[in-house]
Amino acid sequence: MSAPPDQYGVVGHPVAHSWSPFIHGLFARQTEQAMVYRRFDVPPAKFRRHVTHFFLHGGRGLNVTLPHKPAAAELANELTPRAERAGAVNTLLIQGENEILGDNTDGEGLVRDLQDNCRVPVTATRILIVGAGGATRGVLAPLLALQPSEIVIANRTAARASALAREFAELGNLIGCGLDSALLTEFDLIINATSASTNGHAIAIPEKLVSARTICYDMAYSKEKTPFVRWAESLGCARALQGWGMLVEQAAESFSVWRGIRPQTAPVLEALTAS
Ligand code: ATR
Repeated sequence: MSAPPDQYGVVGHPVAHSWSPFIHGLFARQTEQAMVYRRFDVPPAKFRRHVTHFFLHGGRGLNVTLPHKPAAAELANELTPRAERAGAVNTLLIQGENEILGDNTDGEGLVRDLQDNCRVPVTATRILIVGAGGATRGVLAPLLALQPSEIVIANRTAARASALAREFAELGNLIGCGLDSALLTEFDLIINATSASTNGHAIAIPEKLVSARTICYDMAYSKEKTPFVRWAESLGCARALQGWGMLVEQAAESFSVWRGIRPQTAPVLEALTAS
């Protein structure tokens, strides 16, 4: 009799909308890995108990999504340097004698999508990141490693942007400000890292930020155009992109952390956006 497949999954609340089982299912088939990947809808009060139980009963790895990413960083016995920097964990795995390792593949996912899939230049460019929450925190270090000339973090609550800029100041040229700041002029790349569209809101950012050379990237994604993408296109930006590629690339990075094998992302991204 063959061994049962290895157990993986995604923990969130809610999680019914998650594309991760679809993506990891295709990765597993493509790379011929014997694994199953499930959705676990777990409220915050039960997160720790659920994760501990999963790993104690032979589970091998979990993705963690909203709202549990900071709690997963607390729960892990050890963090990778990139998870430590991000202060959030989207990937858990078991190592050694029941030690849970926390990793964060979100930043790597964004950088790979920008560079490999979308061919968006980052080095020596001026980048605006809108939002100063967990999503921004997770991508700052990998973006700064590519040496943009400057990153401006603009946030509704200016003090949060300034605090984040101070925290990452040693990694590059970084400024934090409010959404109406005089610092906000035309940018090469504008990344929406707010949760505004998931709450059904548009973000109030000045139109002067976008020129015909500006590339706009929404870390959010949807089957229709997101409000940010519609806004950017209406201002005549060079390109407006949604975060489907980031989603698939962060999943591929998690998969390779778990299985030691990197799946091809292009066919999965194609299947996802065509489905
Ligand atoms: P996440 O972990 O997804 O980044 P978060 O930490 O709650 O979530 O951060 C959400 C981000 O979206 C914040 O930058 C928030 O701005 P504030 O710090 O001022 O709260 C931003 N955001 C959410 N709704 C917004 C809206 N309607 N307009 C502008 N910014 C918004």
